[in-house]
Amino acid sequence: MDERIITDDKLKEDSFEASIRPDTLEEYVGQSELKENLAIFIEAAKKRGEALDHVLLYGPPGLGKTTLAYIIANELGSNIRVASGPAIEKTGDLAAILSTIEEGDVLFIDEIHRIPRFVEETLYSAMEDYVLDIIVGNDASSRSIRIDLPKFTLVGATTRAGDLTAPMRDRFGIVSKLNYYTEEELTKIVKRTASVLNSSIDEDAALEIARRSRGTPRIANRLVKRVRDYAEVKGNGVITLPITRLALGKLKVDDIGLDETDYNLLKSIIDKFNGGPVGVEAIASSIGEEVTTIEDVYEPYLLQIGFLKRTNRGRVVTEKAYEHLGIPLLK
Ligand SMILES: Nc1ncnc2c1ncn2[C@@H]1O[C@H](COP(=O)(O)OP(=O)(O)OP(=O)(O)O)[C@@H](O)[C@H]1O
Ligand SMILES: [Mg+2]
Repeated sequence: MDERIITDDKLKEDSFEASIRPDTLEEYVGQSELKENLAIFIEAAKKRGEALDHVLLYGPPGLGKTTLAYIIANELGSNIRVASGPAIEKTGDLAAILSTIEEGDVLFIDEIHRIPRFVEETLYSAMEDYVLDIIVGNDASSRSIRIDLPKFTLVGATTRAGDLTAPMRDRFGIVSKLNYYTEEELTKIVKRTASVLNSSIDEDAALEIARRSRGTPRIANRLVKRVRDYAEVKGNGVITLPITRLALGKLKVDDIGLDETDYNLLKSIIDKFNGGPVGVEAIASSIGEEVTTIEDVYEPYLLQIGFLKRTNRGRVVTEKAYEHLGIPLLK
C-alpha cells in the first residue's frame, strides 16, 4: 500500500473530493466565525447588487479553502472561474482569464502566492479599479492600453500567507484563516461523507476516524474511503469500531493520526540531530522529503499539537513528542 493518506498531491483525489464537497454554507461544517461573517457579507453584497469584496483564504492544506471558494460563488448565485498561481506565468495569462469574466463572477485563484511579482502588478489594478492595463505591440511600437473589467470577486487561496506580498494582501477586503477542525466537527464530516458514499458507520467508528484525521477534513474523507474498503471486504459493509481500528492500523495511522513520515521526521531529528534545533533543509534531506512538503503538510500539524517547536535556530522536538514515541528524553 503506497497510496499516501497525508499528501499534498491535489490532482489524484480531485473527482472524489469534488463529489463530496458541500455546496452551501449551511452544509459546510465548522469555521463558524468565518462562516457567519461570510454569510453577512454575501447577503449585504447581494442586497446592494454589488460584487462581494475580494476574499483571501489561507491555512494548511485540506481544510476547505477550495470548497469555500465554490460555496461563495454558489451563495452569490454567480459563476466561478478557476485559475491557479503557478499557471499564471505572464501578464497575458492573467489577461486571458480576466477577459472571460462577467459581472459579479467569482475568480478563484488557488496558490495565489505563486503568481510572479510582475504579474501581480496587473492584478492590483484589476482588483482595485476593475481595469486591465496591458502592453500591446512589439518593442518598437508598443503602447499601454486600458480595458474596463466587469466588477468581480477575487477569491484567493494559499497555504502560505507569509509568502504573499503586503500590497497583494492589502487588496483583499476579507482575509480569513482556516483553522484545524475539532473532533466533533470532523465526526460530523465523517458521517456526512459515509452517507454520501452510501455506507453506514457506527458513531464510535466515526469518532475514531475523526480523532485520527489531524484536524483535517481531507484526511478524514480519505480515511473513510479506505476504512469502507475494509468494512466491505472484511466485514458486512458497516463501518464499525473494530474494522476502523484494523484498517487504520494497516494504514499505519497511529491513534492520534500520525503516519510513517511523521515518525521518520520526529525520529530523524531525535536520532541524527539530538532532538534539534535543526533547520528544515537538513530534516528534509535526511528523510528524503521536499522542504515544502514538510513545511506545508507535516510541520503545521506537529506544531499545532505541540510535538515540534520552532526556534530561531531551527526545529526542536518537544518532550510531549518523546513521550508519544516512547523514547526517553536524555539531557
Ligand atoms: N468545512 C467542511 N465541511 C465539510 N467538508 C469539508 C469541509 N472542508 C473541507 N471539506 C472536504 O475536505 C476536502 C478538502 O477540502 P479543500 O479541497 O477545500 O481543501 P483546501 O483547503 O482547498 O486544500 P489545499 O490547500 O490542498 O488546496 C474536500 O473534499 C471537502 O469535501
Ligand atoms: Mg484547494
